[in-house]
Amino acid sequence: MSCSGVDSQTKVCAVIGRPVAHSLSPLLHNTAFFYYGLNWVYLAFEVENLKGAIEGVRGFGVKGLNVTIPYKTDVLAYLDGLDMLAEKIGAVNTIVNHSGHLKGYNTDAQGFLKVLSKEGIDPRGEGFIILGAGGAARAISFALAQSGARLSVLNRTPERALELSRKLEEEFGRPVPALELNIDNLKFALDNAAVIVNTTSRGMSPDVEGTPVPGELLRPGLTVLDIVYSPLKTRLLREAEAAGAKVVGGLDMLVYQAGLSFELWTGLKAPLEVMMAQGRNFLEPKKLERKNSLALTGFMGAGKSSVARLVSSMLGKELRSTDGLVEEAAQKPILRIFSEDGEAYFRELEMRAVKEVLEGDNLVIDCGGGVVLNQLNILNLKKKAHIFYLKAGLDTCLKRAEREVRPLLGHDPGEVFRLFSLREPLYEEAADVVIETSGLSPEEVARKVAKEYESLS
Ligand code: ATR
Repeated sequence: MSCSGVDSQTKVCAVIGRPVAHSLSPLLHNTAFFYYGLNWVYLAFEVENLKGAIEGVRGFGVKGLNVTIPYKTDVLAYLDGLDMLAEKIGAVNTIVNHSGHLKGYNTDAQGFLKVLSKEGIDPRGEGFIILGAGGAARAISFALAQSGARLSVLNRTPERALELSRKLEEEFGRPVPALELNIDNLKFALDNAAVIVNTTSRGMSPDVEGTPVPGELLRPGLTVLDIVYSPLKTRLLREAEAAGAKVVGGLDMLVYQAGLSFELWTGLKAPLEVMMAQGRNFLEPKKLERKNSLALTGFMGAGKSSVARLVSSMLGKELRSTDGLVEEAAQKPILRIFSEDGEAYFRELEMRAVKEVLEGDNLVIDCGGGVVLNQLNILNLKKKAHIFYLKAGLDTCLKRAEREVRPLLGHDPGEVFRLFSLREPLYEEAADVVIETSGLSPEEVARKVAKEYESLS
């Protein structure tokens, strides 16, 4: 996320904890702010003095906070109100600042329940084995117990398992066996449960060969959820999958809890799909294979279509155009799609066109000017193509607009200027390579693109 949009109106959210350097929350939340074009920014603060940090939130009018290890419980003492579930769990991971009144929530618990619902798992009456007894185990087991699940808690340090199970028994009046995490107890617990939830840090990067459950205990019919999201597929999940069990990785829960926090702060529906794609893109082991396609983006006037044609013949790659595919799909020219069906419909077709183009290989992709408005398009393109931004000055674009009618512009120079200022940072942000095109002929631009591409490969 570039900081170019930050100004005196920018609203601030943040995560506080210690450590926070590896937190994925800034990436997920800034992605969501960017998606809606909100003038909000999300930061990460490594906090030593919790009381001072919360005073700062009030003092600076910070809109919202996420709270992570080790402050999820300690922070309760400084809040003005608590959501009921957060109060029961005794831990807060989200704070909303309502004009100075700080209210605490626990979206870890609800995020977990959303994962179950997405996976079609009904917790009522179902047997769950919770591995671990820390903060995450607490939120998840309270959410599960409240939904009517049967639980047992297994932990390396049995005293902590017992402490958690007592709290659950007190609150819900049902027995919750607490056991030391070892193979015999796992076998015993598995006789009565079909779902395992790992909340321990076993298997988390760099401990990638670690697992809390010996592989031989895993079998078909089991469901295994791991809240560890780095690596995306832990050894536990790999072995469970190989044994025929259903597996669910930790990224889903991470994104759902983030999405719920975002919704509490902004009142907008979280763009979960985009947040998930961004998180996966960040965590996925980067493939070493070379990308053999190029995507050309840019405002009108940079000569994208002519440059794309020339580059395709120079590099011997097939030429595809997203606008071309959109017209084919709609069976009418773009101007008519805009006037008869509206921009939203056009963007939907455009997104499908990007996906369709990417089924091919060794391409030069001529992207419509608005492709970069959708982050999913950018993420999809980046999987297979180097993105080249053909940068043209506003004067070039204005001249071009005088000659051609475009759907969003007509001939209005004011509109050209407005769109130009809106889109310019998006092109910059999405680009792997920026090619300055002012004063150059299409042939010269194409040669520059081809040269840069060769140097990347
Ligand atoms: P969180 O808030 O993320 O749950 P936590 O409160 O530090 O973090 O809890 C970490 C959990 O992982 C604990 O249940 C811990 O077990 P102990 O209570 O015995 O410390 C568990 N854990 C950490 N490392 C582990 C390991 N190598 N093997 C098994 N359990 C482990």
